[in-house]
Amino acid sequence: MKAIVNTHYGSPDLFQLTEVATPTPADDEVLIKVQAVSVNRSDWEGLTGKPLYARLGGLLKPGSHSQILGSDVAGRVVAAGSNHHQFHPGDDVFGEMWDYHGGFAEYVCTRGRAWALKPPRLTFEQAAAIPQAGVIALQGIRTHGQVQPGQHVLINGAGGGAGSFAVQLAKLDGAEVTAVDNTGKLDFLRALGADHVIDYTHEEFTKTGQRYDLILDVVAHRSAFAYRRVLKPNGRYFAVGGSVATLLQIALLGPWMSRAVGKHIRVLVVQRTQKDLLAISELCEAGAIVPVIDRRYPLREVPDALRYLGAGRVKGKVVITMDENNVT
Ligand SMILES: NC(=O)c1ccc[n+]([C@@H]2O[C@H](COP(=O)([O-])OP(=O)(O)OC[C@H]3O[C@@H](n4cnc5c(N)ncnc54)[C@H](OP(=O)(O)O)[C@@H]3O)[C@@H](O)[C@H]2O)c1
Repeated sequence: MKAIVNTHYGSPDLFQLTEVATPTPADDEVLIKVQAVSVNRSDWEGLTGKPLYARLGGLLKPGSHSQILGSDVAGRVVAAGSNHHQFHPGDDVFGEMWDYHGGFAEYVCTRGRAWALKPPRLTFEQAAAIPQAGVIALQGIRTHGQVQPGQHVLINGAGGGAGSFAVQLAKLDGAEVTAVDNTGKLDFLRALGADHVIDYTHEEFTKTGQRYDLILDVVAHRSAFAYRRVLKPNGRYFAVGGSVATLLQIALLGPWMSRAVGKHIRVLVVQRTQKDLLAISELCEAGAIVPVIDRRYPLREVPDALRYLGAGRVKGKVVITMDENNVT
């Protein structure tokens, strides 16, 4: 099969479209013919090897199991191991590869834990856009954020994958939403429903004097004390991604700060569940939330898709499609 392979950490120039062996499903796995796979910031991190946590698959260079990136896949089951009872050949399915790898290829194998049947009214491309970003938003806004109507919610890094779902979900749940991202994404954020926008290249949201009931932070890089300052009493702050230093500080000091001042400051470790994948995709199928696809690229153009992401221009999601007639 064809796959996009990277054997070193660095830039998208290192990606190569390569012929590799088609994977064989283990007894408890299915083999899926990939129809679409979305690009996440985690792919950029896996490509560049930064932050450090992106090197779990190999400290100096990607290990042999980590050389194909791509985590959010939608496709059709073409074979099932003898001990796999969840999906069957012919099923259209979608979900996230547990280790963030394997998706930039014509076929993947998975046990399918936390995967689901693709909702019929969603295209493969829409379905591939949902798993990682949609579930981050669902758990950040609903499960842990517990947003109530009228509450003030700030989403930092709102114009990307997780943020574009989170803005829509917070609005759906009746919040007043402030969305933070770069200058080129502010109109996009307003179109998603944001009530207020902040351009992070000109203004620091921790210094505006505003206070929030919930902050969902996709790109945490300030001190935990700065975040505590902009929370209302009993407010909640969740870091989903960001610098290792900030995430470590929040993980270490967050519980202590929460006890001391009654504000909840935590790193959100997302749990992948089929229930949550279905919950967010049902909202998409019903049209209550739109999985925003900025661009579609064919498999051979994964390097261009990653360059576009790395240049800070993606609004919502970028999707790799195997349907060359569907490229925009
Ligand atoms: N905690 C968990 O369990 C878990 C699970 C999965 C993934 N993750 C992590 O969650 C993150 C998900 O991100 P994503 O896929 O939504 O990323 P994304 O699509 O790249 O979105 C991030 C957005 O933040 C913007 N941004 C960059 N620097 C900023 C700043 N200083 N202030 C405000 N906005 C800024 C980016 O804009 P520019 O274009 O200007 O850069 C981009 O629009 C990744 O870091 C991933 O590793 C965490």
